[in-house]
Amino acid sequence: MNVLIINSSPRRNGNISRLLQHAAERVVDAGASCRVINLYDKDIRNCIGCMECRSRLSCPIPDDMPMIADAIKSADRIIIGAPCYWANMPGILKSMFDRLAYLFISEGKYGIPSPRLKGRRALIISTATTPMPWARLFGQTSATVKSIKRIFNMGGISTIPALQIGGTLNRNIDEKDFRKLNKKISTLLR
Ligand SMILES: Cc1cc2nc3c(=O)[nH]c(=O)nc-3n(C[C@H](O)[C@H](O)[C@H](O)COP(=O)(O)O)c2cc1C
Repeated sequence: MNVLIINSSPRRNGNISRLLQHAAERVVDAGASCRVINLYDKDIRNCIGCMECRSRLSCPIPDDMPMIADAIKSADRIIIGAPCYWANMPGILKSMFDRLAYLFISEGKYGIPSPRLKGRRALIISTATTPMPWARLFGQTSATVKSIKRIFNMGGISTIPALQIGGTLNRNIDEKDFRKLNKKISTLLR
């Protein structure tokens, strides 16, 4: 089984990075193959809305996106880590998704999108400084997860219940969080 981990946090020792590092170790322990992509290490330019990708099934902008597209295509499972930025995903992650519209959906008859990545399963992890339960109740981590889930689901990728962690201003990721993550990973790899 191929597992792809996508890190959209710029902080290499931050909450998301530590959680994803732990996730990678658990995935390898479970005998799956694991690849990690740190988006902030990559050249990811913004979509220019030319719509060329819809007919040629690739994007004309020359950067690191073809490698990321191939990694997503060959993944059976995806783990995506996203700190909550303005109650949504970080801009770099949104840029990645914008550039992959052709990979996720095809424009069917009458322009109704149909999914192109069926059969894959994903886990979304989001952190926020807003403490729980407010981060979940008032659309901080929950809105971040919702935006990403919507894109995955449009592409036909199903998601297991997300891991949401709040209050990161005043607390570090701890053993309890890692235990929750272990459970999610077991579910994801089933
Ligand atoms: C540009 C920016 C916007 C943010 N917006 C929010 C927000 O809307 N709500 C919130 O609770 N935290 C917000 N935060 C805080 C981060 O979500 C929080 O610090 C998170 O734990 C960072 O994760 P990391 O350590 O993995 O990078 C924001 C941080 C940045 C840098």
